[in-house]
Amino acid sequence: MQIVRNSEELALARTQFSGSLALVPTMGALHAGHMTLVAEARRRADRVAVSIFVNPSQFGESEDFGRYPRREAEDVQMLEEAGCDLLWAPTVADVYPTGFATKVSVSGVSDRWEGEARPGHFDGVATIVAKLFLSVRPDFALFGEKDFQQLAVIRRMAADLALPIEIIGVPTVREADGLALSSRNLYLTPQERHQALMLPRSLNTARDSILAGTPVFEALHDARAALRDGGFSRIDYLALVDAATLEPLQEPQGEMRLIAAAIIGTTRLIDNLAL
Ligand code: PAJ
Repeated sequence: MQIVRNSEELALARTQFSGSLALVPTMGALHAGHMTLVAEARRRADRVAVSIFVNPSQFGESEDFGRYPRREAEDVQMLEEAGCDLLWAPTVADVYPTGFATKVSVSGVSDRWEGEARPGHFDGVATIVAKLFLSVRPDFALFGEKDFQQLAVIRRMAADLALPIEIIGVPTVREADGLALSSRNLYLTPQERHQALMLPRSLNTARDSILAGTPVFEALHDARAALRDGGFSRIDYLALVDAATLEPLQEPQGEMRLIAAAIIGTTRLIDNLAL
């Protein structure tokens, strides 16, 4: 695996690839969820590139940019074993040189939920992903359904800008007990790790009761109560939404998703479920 850390090296490395290329953008601290994206990328394309960049512009002032896990040596080993061809691991100065002033902003689908709880977050995500797309120039890019709204934002951006890149969504990888894998699970104490299970459980229960005909507001109310009783100190949102537009739904209709974000201890967790 070739590891490149500045734009000049990347441009050179890119010219050496023939055939199709798939990109998996990440912030590192890789786990089995990320590696599923890499495996799917290998199935789709001749070559696989992974980027690791803890992107400062998608973290709010009071968020966890400083303590976000950085474990490059372990990441490199996992990527080598998975048959990744190229690791793009730029510095902040390379991505955002002095004077950098451009923002990619996707309205509508970004506005609610994560967008409301984390102002500026999706501008940071869309801007870095646009830069990654332009510098790596992949034919395919893979994103996890774990970050369901992020996937919808990227799809919107790629469609609006007519980017010649196929965006591929990959189902969420979970621990045996149901907790979605996340780099942020590393923050959880053993007790919080146990309590965190209430997030997927409450979504499962809400899905089952909505499908069984319980009114949506009642199923969502019960799920919120279960999260609070289970030890979550704050719920940013728990909603039934249209899977494409992320608009809230009061009644079941079309392609739907249950989405939630809640805080346990000092850790903010997100999860979602198809209906
Ligand atoms: P990061 O949180 O590192 O996630 C990288 C990719 O892995 C995302 O597409 C995410 O949805 C996917 N992923 C994470 N956990 C997963 C799981 N349990 N199952 C399946 N896929 C999972 O998302 C980001 O980084 C950043 O916002 C990024 C897109 C790289 C822009 O900075």
